Amino acid sequence: MPIETALRFTGPSAGDADLLAVPFDGDLTADVELPVPVRALLAHHEAKGEAGEVVEIPVAHGDEVRRVLLYGVGDATPRALRKAGATVARRAKGRPAVDVTLPKDAGASGWSAFAEGALLASYTFKIGASRGKAVGEIRLSGPEEARAAVERAEVLAHATALARDLANTPSSEKNPAWLAERAVEVAERSGVSAKIWAPDELAERGFGGILAVGRGSVSPPRMIELSYEPADADGSHVVLVGKGITFDSGGLSLKPNEGMKAMKTDMAGGAVVISVLGALRDLGVRTRVTGLVAAAENMPSGTAQRPGDVITHYGGTTVEVLNTDAEGRLVLADALAYADDVLEPDTVVDIATLTGAIGIALGRELGAVFSSSDDLAEELVSAGATSGDPLWRMPLVQEYRPALDSNVADLSNIDSEGRFGGGAVTAALFLREFTGGRRWAHLDIAGVARSTADDGVQTKGATGFGTRLLLEWLTG
Ligand code: BES
Ligand code: MN
Ligand code: ZN
Repeated sequence: MPIETALRFTGPSAGDADLLAVPFDGDLTADVELPVPVRALLAHHEAKGEAGEVVEIPVAHGDEVRRVLLYGVGDATPRALRKAGATVARRAKGRPAVDVTLPKDAGASGWSAFAEGALLASYTFKIGASRGKAVGEIRLSGPEEARAAVERAEVLAHATALARDLANTPSSEKNPAWLAERAVEVAERSGVSAKIWAPDELAERGFGGILAVGRGSVSPPRMIELSYEPADADGSHVVLVGKGITFDSGGLSLKPNEGMKAMKTDMAGGAVVISVLGALRDLGVRTRVTGLVAAAENMPSGTAQRPGDVITHYGGTTVEVLNTDAEGRLVLADALAYADDVLEPDTVVDIATLTGAIGIALGRELGAVFSSSDDLAEELVSAGATSGDPLWRMPLVQEYRPALDSNVADLSNIDSEGRFGGGAVTAALFLREFTGGRRWAHLDIAGVARSTADDGVQTKGATGFGTRLLLEWLTG
């Protein structure tokens, strides 16, 4: 159930919908006949013109009544127009169509931001008879120069919606095999090739982390490998690695219900990797991109891994599993080591709902980026700001590295004595051990992968955070 709202870019024309959205920035920029002068109206409603404000006015239209949504545009930056688009789309809920006029100087990036915000806010996910009732059609009548940007916004919004759909799907339906099937479907319709690694092949090649995490579940693990190889490739190779835990109960280190009830979204990073790979051809990306999703269900059972077990990762590194709830890093370690060994990328970016600690540090607005490269961190932070998926750089504190020492194995999967704190940092340090010194960044999206409310471009539940960011980074 992705975005059912249609977007129509109509070139300059007067709309005939019974709902008309017109910007105000103190002055009215489109000609509609209002019952009272616009300034008086806005003053009456104490409207300041901020993005996210809407004043709804009934106006005569022949014998009928039309409604005009006067919407604020704030400073009219893409960021503000994205928010304005989301607000207008929400106000138009349940209506067949809304005709939209944008500020005269919005520019192509303004148009695309508005379109993106409006589509993302129209996303619904509902299982059962009661359907979401988003606006049927959003009509943008704008200059021809904005058409390509609006089309790009549509691709970004639909890719984000796919990531939301995958993450919102309940784990009764979504197991590793299901996720792999969805990835194959996406690949088939987007010029991407797919290889699904089943448990026997994973065992043969030594993917001990993915297998250990998955062994407690009746639904066996998979690794999804998606390859985008454009004909006119520019010669560089990026590998994206996603955490694909289709449900995280904690395993034998069981979570309490409060911490478990949202854990169907613990594959949000993997969902982003699948949706990003699915959008590359449409966006004309010329970089070779490989996506890896390490998919497993983390369950307690008689076959589950135990605290104290030692596992051997792809490439031979041994890890003492002192907490089975620190499972994301175990599945990612295999995929990162495989990427380094076989795929030989120029850059690796992993994305994962890795630690509750990052939600404490950065809250629900900012994702975290850890990186071995200052350039890469800067590129990603900048793409984050442009795309609407903002990142904050976090440090790989070398002094905390002893947290991962183990008495019996090469590494331990947690700071077992809690000597160092900084749970998101030690998790990132753990991942770094498997990157072979390559140009690498780790995105911890545990705080931002879900929204607690319908708010701006976000809808309650999965956000798809990282999709727009990575697509912006790969196209920027
Ligand atoms: N999937 C969780 C992290 C998470 C927490 C994501 C809250 C979204 C919201 C991860 O697998 C986990 O359980 N991490 C543990 C690590 C700990 C055992 C070192 C955590 O954060 O508590
Ligand atoms: Mn966990
Ligand atoms: Zn997890």
